[in-house]
Amino acid sequence: MHAYFTRHLLAWNQTDNDRQMPWKGEKNPYKIWLSEIILQQTRVDQGLAYYNRFVQAFPTIKLLANASDTAVFKLWEGLGYYSRCKNLLITARVISKDLKGKFPANYEELLALKGVGPYTAAAIASFAYNLPYAVVDGNVFRVLARFFGMYDAIDSAAGKKLFTALANSLLDKKKPGEYNQALMDFGAVICKPKLPQCGICPLQNKCIARQQGTIALLPVKEKSIVKKTRWFYYVVAGYGDGVYVKKRGAGDIWENLYEFILIETDAAVDIENIIKQSALKKITGSNKMAPPFVSPAYRQLLTHQVIHGQFIQINLSRPLASKDYICTRQEALKGLPFPKLISSFLKDKNVSLNLFQQHL
Ligand code: ADE
Ligand code: SF4
Repeated sequence: MHAYFTRHLLAWNQTDNDRQMPWKGEKNPYKIWLSEIILQQTRVDQGLAYYNRFVQAFPTIKLLANASDTAVFKLWEGLGYYSRCKNLLITARVISKDLKGKFPANYEELLALKGVGPYTAAAIASFAYNLPYAVVDGNVFRVLARFFGMYDAIDSAAGKKLFTALANSLLDKKKPGEYNQALMDFGAVICKPKLPQCGICPLQNKCIARQQGTIALLPVKEKSIVKKTRWFYYVVAGYGDGVYVKKRGAGDIWENLYEFILIETDAAVDIENIIKQSALKKITGSNKMAPPFVSPAYRQLLTHQVIHGQFIQINLSRPLASKDYICTRQEALKGLPFPKLISSFLKDKNVSLNLFQQHL
């Protein structure tokens, strides 16, 4: 079974795999690391454009390390899971300064980098340095679970251990980079999550899930995610030719991204009642404002949360007293990183017109 798996996978890779991606065959550890961080929680088709923009803006790790947080977060905008971006900056700066620009070249030192887990360390070690570490990501779990008929939960510690041991026993130790990339590509184009191409699969003759009719049940997960719902009412306060924004702090979603004045509730609330909130009066000094514009409702799905958002424009006659908020003109607003909920709102037709013409 084991030798069959590896042999047919590599044969498929050499004759039938025509998947092309800019980081394939790349040997520069900086670019491999960048692509793998982007692809940790992002689909290849979405990640591609971000990868190309990052490589173009920051061709070397030193350029990335020397960039401003805001510029890097702006480039990351829309990719989600922003702790990846925070760790990207930390690691770029550590390598550039503490390690004098030398990218770590063994598994343990790679694993010690912030934002680099076993999966990413194995990917960099095998792609850049041809070291024998098997990658174990969602694609690998799915392919192995199906081919070997493994019903162990992939999100349990015991399951992870089993799959990792199996993955390493299958690895072609002479060509670990080629093997790892082949397995990821195979999971993406043949043994796909919803519609696996079993009819053209080079492994079909020995695939246990295919024999047992359990493809759709594999891989098994033990936890189902319960999502929390939050309502974000954003008060877009205009003053002069700017609007007030604030950087989000640590301890919640969207750290380091910008937002307007936020009134959060755990249920939907009428706009009149939002305006009357004492929290809003504390910030703006008034709770008797008539909003010239209220947006439709927006929604953003995160892994563990559903965020409902609505934007309420108000015009101030005095500047805000709080130093947490900065009055930002339209041009500067474009350079700030926002969560997708807010950037979608800002990109909507007429919104910027509405926001900025009212109080010019
Ligand atoms: N997902 C994560 N890393 C990948 C890679 N190197 N190629 C394709 N998909 C990936
Ligand atoms: Fe995946 Fe189907 Fe191939 Fe089995 S036969 S490895 S389920 S694509």
